[in-house]
Amino acid sequence: MTNTPSTSFTQGTEQQDQHRKEVRDMFDIVAPRYDIMNDVMSMGIHRLWKHSCVSMLAPQYGETVVDLAGGTGDLAAAFTKRGAKSIVCDPCVGMMSAGKQKKQPIQWVAAYGETLPFADNSIDALSIAFGLRNMSDPHTGLKEIHRVLKPQGRFLCLEFSEAAPWLKPLYDAYSLHVIPQLGAMIAGQKEAYQYLIQSIREFPNQQALASLMVECGFKNVGYRNLSFGIAAVHTGNK
Ligand SMILES: C[S@@+](CC[C@H](N)C(=O)[O-])C[C@H]1O[C@@H](n2cnc3c(N)ncnc32)[C@H](O)[C@@H]1O
Repeated sequence: MTNTPSTSFTQGTEQQDQHRKEVRDMFDIVAPRYDIMNDVMSMGIHRLWKHSCVSMLAPQYGETVVDLAGGTGDLAAAFTKRGAKSIVCDPCVGMMSAGKQKKQPIQWVAAYGETLPFADNSIDALSIAFGLRNMSDPHTGLKEIHRVLKPQGRFLCLEFSEAAPWLKPLYDAYSLHVIPQLGAMIAGQKEAYQYLIQSIREFPNQQALASLMVECGFKNVGYRNLSFGIAAVHTGNK
């Protein structure tokens, strides 16, 4: 891996284009080992977090639900099981190809979150899990999500966040020292997982993300910590 993306969220347009491409290319490289790496790295806990997200977003029969940055389709598959018409939208063809092998009835759309290929007010609910952090500018991403949701449409964001102070030293040691090693051993991509950790550290914490959502037009904004704040689920409505 030569081009490890920078994690700066305040870049000019040309740099943002470059950042988007580098992040997408990085996920293309890790795609074949992505699911197994997720299970190992989180000790399976990401599955519980995603289970909570499905209950919180509560997809209904016949609704159109987009899982943005949907990767290999975990959340979209769960939405389909609840009767929704699920769409994974992700710029990384490699991630979606790995997901397609699971043969779930999901529609796959290749696009960046910053420029969604959906009409205004057309989507009933939209989720994004561990994806907002990868965008070149989360503010642009949130505005775009707000644009495509129907009035009252539901938004849910699952993202790594700020762990409780008592847990932080242990969590920092694990993420700084263990995760890149696991990335090297399992995915052969130490730098990609170093980027992951760096992007987590630079991403807005719970309160800051909630404020950003309000700034981008969302109502009823709230969040719930998962695993003592290692991750958080933010929700809001258009
Ligand atoms: C950490 S993975 C998360 C995948 C899946 N949501 C999950 O929870 O397992 C991040 C995903 O974000 C996607 N991504 C990267 N840049 C993006 C962008 N600019 N807009 C939307 N998705 C992006 C990647 O291709 C990748 O599939």
